[in-house]
Amino acid sequence: MLAFFFLSFVSLCHGFLVNSTIDDSFPDQLTGEIVQYSPAEAWNNGRNCDRCSARPSQSLLHRETWHDGTFNRNNGSNAFPNQPLFASVRFKGEAVYVYCVIPRTADFPAGHSDMTFFIDNQRVGVFVRNPPGTPGFDYDVLVYQNTSIPPGPHELIIQNGNRNGPKSILMLDRIVYSYDNGEPEKRQTALETSTIVGIVLGALAAICLIVVGVYWYFACRRRKTAQPAQPLKLELETGGSGMGVHSLNLPAASQSAPYSYQRDYAHSSNSYHPSGYSFNNLTPEPHHPRPDPYSTPSDRPPAYLSKY
Ligand SMILES: *[C@@H]1O[C@H](CO)[C@@H](O)[C@H](O)[C@H]1NC(C)=O
Ligand SMILES: *[C@@H]1O[C@H](CO)[C@@H](O)[C@H](O)[C@H]1NC(C)=O
Ligand SMILES: *[C@@H]1O[C@H](CO)[C@@H](O)[C@H](O)[C@H]1NC(C)=O
Repeated sequence: MLAFFFLSFVSLCHGFLVNSTIDDSFPDQLTGEIVQYSPAEAWNNGRNCDRCSARPSQSLLHRETWHDGTFNRNNGSNAFPNQPLFASVRFKGEAVYVYCVIPRTADFPAGHSDMTFFIDNQRVGVFVRNPPGTPGFDYDVLVYQNTSIPPGPHELIIQNGNRNGPKSILMLDRIVYSYDNGEPEKRQTALETSTIVGIVLGALAAICLIVVGVYWYFACRRRKTAQPAQPLKLELETGGSGMGVHSLNLPAASQSAPYSYQRDYAHSSNSYHPSGYSFNNLTPEPHHPRPDPYSTPSDRPPAYLSKY
């Protein structure tokens, strides 16, 4: 249960993420950043590209736009044979998602995908796919996502193709990133929520302390009342009579509570006979301290404590 509260607390601390979408062709409405393409001439604004063979349904694309680039080791679709293509964008956040439209066809358009992703110049992922060779396109394909980026400014670079690698197409639809919007209203709510969580945690801790305290109180009491067994046994050994509780010189602690003593003793001794006051069971093993049945729980913390 504590783990649950802890987890909710952690998720609250990272809670106020909102998304911003950068279209392939329009600036980030938040920051004005646009996707940069390189080499610029190797990329086409797909919607306006008459010579492009990839013709997806515009209406299924974000803002009905996409950017189309093809890497080709050989002379072909662009003036940059065997040069990988790049799309890059800057954002300030802690998660990023890249969406593409991907041809299913093997040719016209050649639908092989071979993408590599970099965040802050660190290679963080790849997306490689062979087309099934059927007509049409797959829309809204999440080709890369990263939800564990340290909050702050970052640069995402998408590379299409690898030098001397296979021909590959990249049709970029949009990039989504998540950031902490820092809205005071939401922070207020979050503060209130964390206060409530704090109170709940405090109450839980108090309950735990009380439970432990009560437990120790009773454990100590039991031990106290169980103690007289030891002096009693010694008395029996030295006295040799083995008869009668009345003749025993009991310590003060047990005298103050003779009934509980007798009751506890009866509990702890299997062969106690209330009628005859016979304590014979004790004499055969005078040198072995009688195991105290209550010593175990007070020496070790109770099992439930180990959970915390
Ligand atoms: C942001 O967008 C991604 C993918 O589009 C989604 O998985 C995530 O839940 C969104 N996050 C928020 C805070 O809306
Ligand atoms: C590409 O075309 C140019 C001329 O446009 C030619 O010089 C070059 O050899 C060709 N390269 C390949 C790999 O076909
Ligand atoms: C996410 O990006 C960070 C760098 O910002 C990187 O260390 C990590 O490996 C990436 N994770 C994934 C799943 O790509």
